[in-house]
Amino acid sequence: MTKKHLILPTDPEFHALASSARRRSAKAGRLPVPTLKLPGDFVFGASTSAYQIEGAVDRAKYGRGPSIWEKYFDQRPHLDRGDVACDHYNRMAADVRMIKRMGLDAYRFSISWPRILPDGFGKVNEQGLAFYDRLIDELLKHGIEPYLTLYHWDLPQALEDLGGWQSREVAKYFADFAALAVQRWGHKVKHWCTFNEPEVIVAGYIGGGLAPGMENPALRVKVAHNLMYAHGLAIQAMRAIEPANRYGIVLNLVPVEPLNEGSRVQARLHWQRNYAIYLDALLKGFYPDVVLDEAEATGAKIQAGDMALICQKLDYLGINWYLRHVVDETGRVIDVPGAEKTQMGWEICAPALTRMLVAMHGEYRLPPIYITENGAALDDAVKSGRVRDEHRTRYIRDHIKAIEAAYLKGVNVRGYFAWSLMDNLEWSLGFSKTFGIVHVDRRTLKRTVKDSGLWYRDLIAKHKGD
Ligand code: BGC
Repeated sequence: MTKKHLILPTDPEFHALASSARRRSAKAGRLPVPTLKLPGDFVFGASTSAYQIEGAVDRAKYGRGPSIWEKYFDQRPHLDRGDVACDHYNRMAADVRMIKRMGLDAYRFSISWPRILPDGFGKVNEQGLAFYDRLIDELLKHGIEPYLTLYHWDLPQALEDLGGWQSREVAKYFADFAALAVQRWGHKVKHWCTFNEPEVIVAGYIGGGLAPGMENPALRVKVAHNLMYAHGLAIQAMRAIEPANRYGIVLNLVPVEPLNEGSRVQARLHWQRNYAIYLDALLKGFYPDVVLDEAEATGAKIQAGDMALICQKLDYLGINWYLRHVVDETGRVIDVPGAEKTQMGWEICAPALTRMLVAMHGEYRLPPIYITENGAALDDAVKSGRVRDEHRTRYIRDHIKAIEAAYLKGVNVRGYFAWSLMDNLEWSLGFSKTFGIVHVDRRTLKRTVKDSGLWYRDLIAKHKGD
């Protein structure tokens, strides 16, 4: 990241904020901010995704075409949906000013494919392009580095109608979409990501409670491979246009730890099927045997040249980290007795993040790593204009310390992004699960920075030496 995109230490507004924040934090009894042994240019940011925050889905008014989520929610009318979400589309400038006030170095967001290409390909929606022009310009104006994700799960419905991620044709349309985006913003945005969490995209086809809502386990490797193929095509297309940018992908990784000696083999298999499937393909150029066996059994085709395309140079690897799994001798994920959990039922276990990063460092030649999402859905209440979410602050602190521990053991971790900047639509779970470091009132949509967000701001300021 270039210095000019950092909050400059000479910025008077930032100085005033940071020192008054420190005073307030001491007074308010928030958790103390640690001194970190991470590099000075370590990137601190927060993440969101288009469908979870933007709203503005009306085609007549905004020109956006339907994504697979509209159909998914149409078929499940009892669920919350993203028609308004956080209304970020209409409140973007104020949201960027809030990011600036929080002192974040970087903001990770996704662009909505159906907002830009309402039918997936062909005619563009100028209004949609103009929205992202404004967002990117606002971020840069405030010295916030944009980290752009091309695909965070909102496939244009028109492409799902052509087979969605079961189709290699759709992979080609994805590369065209990537090329269009890089042509438009490649001179301004330096960090690009193809996919957010291929494993979860696959879940939409095999029965994971996500759009498009299919339930066919036999599609697992076929869809996963098409996503990898689409990633390869997109990286190739983008690099041909703007070779100097940094191109990567974001994987959600859940370390699978054995309950005892007897569960080691099952733990390894579970990891290979769900996570090494992507890591090995991207970083080694082949799939684990257990995946190849499944490909054969389910008729998933890997064509000549695919693996070389997939295993192109990655400029960085993004990791979204939320939890670990522990499996027993039968391969079943067990409930760890006494474990602390989030509202999602996910175990909180930060040391497992250090262990996973160190193990990956031993196994792969890793590109620079960014933790592109980490956070916790926890109960929050606004009282007198304040959200005292000390549990979330502890969660974030412990995970940043776990990253620091991995860094000190030689893992090249370059950044951390909190999930999420603000409370938003947790997909099919609706608005009830709140991950934000900023609270969003569901009635008024008013934003209130939670104590965790204020703590994070102080941490960043301290780390930058202010
Ligand atoms: C996704 C987010 C999601 C978060 C919490 C990640 O898997 O990228 O979109 O909201 O986890 O479930």
